[in-house]
Amino acid sequence: MQIDTELLGSLDELDGVQLQKAIAQLADRVQEEAGKTTTPEEEQKFLSDLFDGERGLFWRLYSKVLAKSGRVTWADYGIRQFLRAPVERFLELGMLEGDPKNRFHSLQRYMDTLIGSTTDVEKFTIARALWESRSEGVKTAIGEYWLKNAKPHLKPAIGRYYNDLAKHLEDALKQRYAAIESGVEAVALVRERVDLSLPGVIRPTGSRHLIRQVFQEIEDIFFSIGFSIVEGPEIETPYYNFEALNIPEFHPVRDDMDTFYLELPKGAKTPLLLRTHTSPMQIRTMERQKPPVRVIVPGKVYRRDNPDATHSFAFHQIEGLAVDTDITFCDFTGTIEYFVKQFFGPGVKTRFRPSYFPFTEPSVEFDVSCPFCAGTGTATGGGTCSKCKGAAWIELFGAGMVDPAVYGFVNYDAKKVSGFAFGIGIDRLAMLKYGIDDIQVFFQNDVRFLRQFP
Ligand code: PHE
Repeated sequence: MQIDTELLGSLDELDGVQLQKAIAQLADRVQEEAGKTTTPEEEQKFLSDLFDGERGLFWRLYSKVLAKSGRVTWADYGIRQFLRAPVERFLELGMLEGDPKNRFHSLQRYMDTLIGSTTDVEKFTIARALWESRSEGVKTAIGEYWLKNAKPHLKPAIGRYYNDLAKHLEDALKQRYAAIESGVEAVALVRERVDLSLPGVIRPTGSRHLIRQVFQEIEDIFFSIGFSIVEGPEIETPYYNFEALNIPEFHPVRDDMDTFYLELPKGAKTPLLLRTHTSPMQIRTMERQKPPVRVIVPGKVYRRDNPDATHSFAFHQIEGLAVDTDITFCDFTGTIEYFVKQFFGPGVKTRFRPSYFPFTEPSVEFDVSCPFCAGTGTATGGGTCSKCKGAAWIELFGAGMVDPAVYGFVNYDAKKVSGFAFGIGIDRLAMLKYGIDDIQVFFQNDVRFLRQFP
């Protein structure tokens, strides 16, 4: 085809609209050329001049538009005109007489060559539009020009050729698209190939929070002597948090636990509060099951404390409860002693002092001989032991034999059953054992702290 390179080069100077116009003008030349092809060889030459790889005129124009505007679509006027020009020649609009066979074959070869030369989805989409476009596609054109105007005796033949062509091109489009897609996949496979020789991505592994670790340690100890683990709600009713634990409303002991009450909508049946201890689970457990009961209850509790090195509005407890027909004070102290020795080591001693809780009678406060100075009150290098402040004993937790009044709330027969309960503050225990001097670090989630307890 006689389109000189100079002319093509001059297209580079044009802006977007001018470029489209220039291409549309070239389309007239191309149409002329299409008209000149009479032998199959000439037609073949014409088609490869247009579409043969990067040298094909059409694809050279395509690249120019692509370079100018970043993308090429069927909406580009020049591109559309250029592709349609030969088609109009083959269609010889409205003039179909004689056998349409050759015209259909020319059209098919033209479309086949174009479709076969598309190498990516954008190019493919343009080729498909040339066939399918409702207003300017070949498919519509055949219907409009050939089928509608055809002489009656030619209609059946034209209809048949038309159907064959349509089927052929639709298959060709499908195949081409699949080939492009799998090509894309193949390229992607190469790009995304996993290189097993590269060093791996090391993701930081988390660890259990120290509080959770201490829970676990304590749970394991009690688990090994037949206790099971239950958990309960952090939002409680005053009944479970107080009344059923033998703490009536207006009892002064309620003042010991500055309580968070929830703001409830007007008309709410009962007030709700954040549990101030895990003891409500004593009641809930006994309500649910008959003796024997042996449970521990790990969990979060809340009190309206101002935060400082030893106070936090949220902290952790493990409740313990054992109730059966013949549980004595000896079982109680023996169990506690076993636990303390497991937790701090066999060298420690325990003692208890009288105390008061409304739901235990008698109530005690358990102490352990200071495990850090072997109960001497003196640090190893001399001077006062910083853990027990020279007292040689460390206050551990409150406990006691279950007050018979409590059994009344859960329909246990106070004459037949007995038991003990304890409530261990976990944060204090963890601080003691791991030498932490500020309870706040448990809640700050500073990884520099957390990393020290992997
Ligand atoms: N619930 C009490 C507290 O939080 C501790 C305790 C539990 C005492 C069980 C005796 C028996 O202070």
